[in-house]
Amino acid sequence: MSQERSDTLVLFGATGDLAHKKIFPALYAMVAKGTLNEPVIGVAFDPWDIAKLQARARDGIVNAIGSIDEKIFARLASLLRYVSGDYRAPATFDKLKTALGSAQRPLHYLAVPPAMFEVVVQGLEQSGAAQGARLMVEKPFGHDLQSARWLNRVLHLVFDEKSIFRIDHYLGKEAIQNLLYFRFANSFLEPIWNRNFVESVQITMAEDFGVEGRGRFYDEVGCIRDVIENHLLNILLLLAMEPPVGRSADDLIDEKVQVLRAIRTLTRDDVVRGQFDGYLNEPGVAPNSPVETFAAVRFFVDTWRWQDVPFFIRAGKSLPVHATEVIVRLKRPPLDVFDPIKPSDCNHVRFRIDPQVAISIGARRKAPGDDMVGEQVELTALDDSKGDMPPYERLIGDAMNGNGQLFTRQDASELAWRIVGPVLGDTTPPAIYAPKTWGPTEAMAGFGPPNGWINPSK
Ligand code: BG6
Repeated sequence: MSQERSDTLVLFGATGDLAHKKIFPALYAMVAKGTLNEPVIGVAFDPWDIAKLQARARDGIVNAIGSIDEKIFARLASLLRYVSGDYRAPATFDKLKTALGSAQRPLHYLAVPPAMFEVVVQGLEQSGAAQGARLMVEKPFGHDLQSARWLNRVLHLVFDEKSIFRIDHYLGKEAIQNLLYFRFANSFLEPIWNRNFVESVQITMAEDFGVEGRGRFYDEVGCIRDVIENHLLNILLLLAMEPPVGRSADDLIDEKVQVLRAIRTLTRDDVVRGQFDGYLNEPGVAPNSPVETFAAVRFFVDTWRWQDVPFFIRAGKSLPVHATEVIVRLKRPPLDVFDPIKPSDCNHVRFRIDPQVAISIGARRKAPGDDMVGEQVELTALDDSKGDMPPYERLIGDAMNGNGQLFTRQDASELAWRIVGPVLGDTTPPAIYAPKTWGPTEAMAGFGPPNGWINPSK
């Protein structure tokens, strides 16, 4: 596969929810910046015409950004084509081939359920539309190690690894880029970024809403598969990895894979599962479903740098706030020279991932006054610009340019499933928690980083 830019974007699942909510707004933003000038062929089962697809795209864009610039939208609309048909019918792919015209290097974006990956990939091959093409696939990438391996085999029958782009949209977030940059563009962190100084790492992804009409999907996955195995584990990797030796996609991913290889496979003692009260009444959720809507998980990274440092990840629906945050807590000073310092008041580095992008250093300083008594402060670098590039814009652009740095490689996808494998599909009833609380209090008693969790604020 050459590094040349893809010359057409083919969007499978063009009439679906993801396209409406995320992909069309991203394409609009790309057109506005002049970074998308290639044809975009939507493919889906619905017997729509191009006018209907354009109307749907417009609706998604207005919903996402609140307004629309007609000139920009007209440019996007002029790039759009539509092919309708059953993914199982060769005729659909013949129509696609015709729509591709003289395109040499299409990017096929599979925004469809994984159950359809095989049939679409085969259709692409049989019609010749896979020739010279790249493939971008949405999450979830498999359901467990076995299914991920099987999916990889299916994709590799037609596409080589360098042409496959597995999405984890978290990796496209500005804050995640910032975390990576901050770690490896500053020298002051390196001496303390290890087991000698770091007491624990905690990552919290709190969502203050439930499953929002996605009950059927969510009830098949649960919290660990939905966000921990992918988004949050990826954050852990960026925190724990060694500096990459270069800037290529493989340089970065190689270091992440080294961490994945060193993470201990989980056991049930490493997990607390919860379910918010009311989940069972959500449409699409099975009666008495044992699926967790909250999970707290303890990981260990068996390397010289991280031996014995606990990495905790906690995520849940219907929690008090909507925020994602990382706290790297440093060990307390060996001696209290002045006032006694509470163990939870030690130094830390806080990475705010969502909704704002910020990095803070937590420190003690002397409180004003006569006594040598301290107070806790944070020095914060807050990025409150409105110019952040949304993940889908960044990821579609990268895939079209053949840049795989922010995508998941085969070995990484399989290793992640290996780690969480033993704690998936637990059918014991999860502990119930009241909506808008920080998960199941009793079940969480004594489970967490030394000196406790820090709940992100709004
Ligand atoms: C998705 C999960 O991958 O990520 C959702 O399926 C979750 O359940 C979402 O809400 C969170 O992503 P973001 O970018 O909206 O915070």
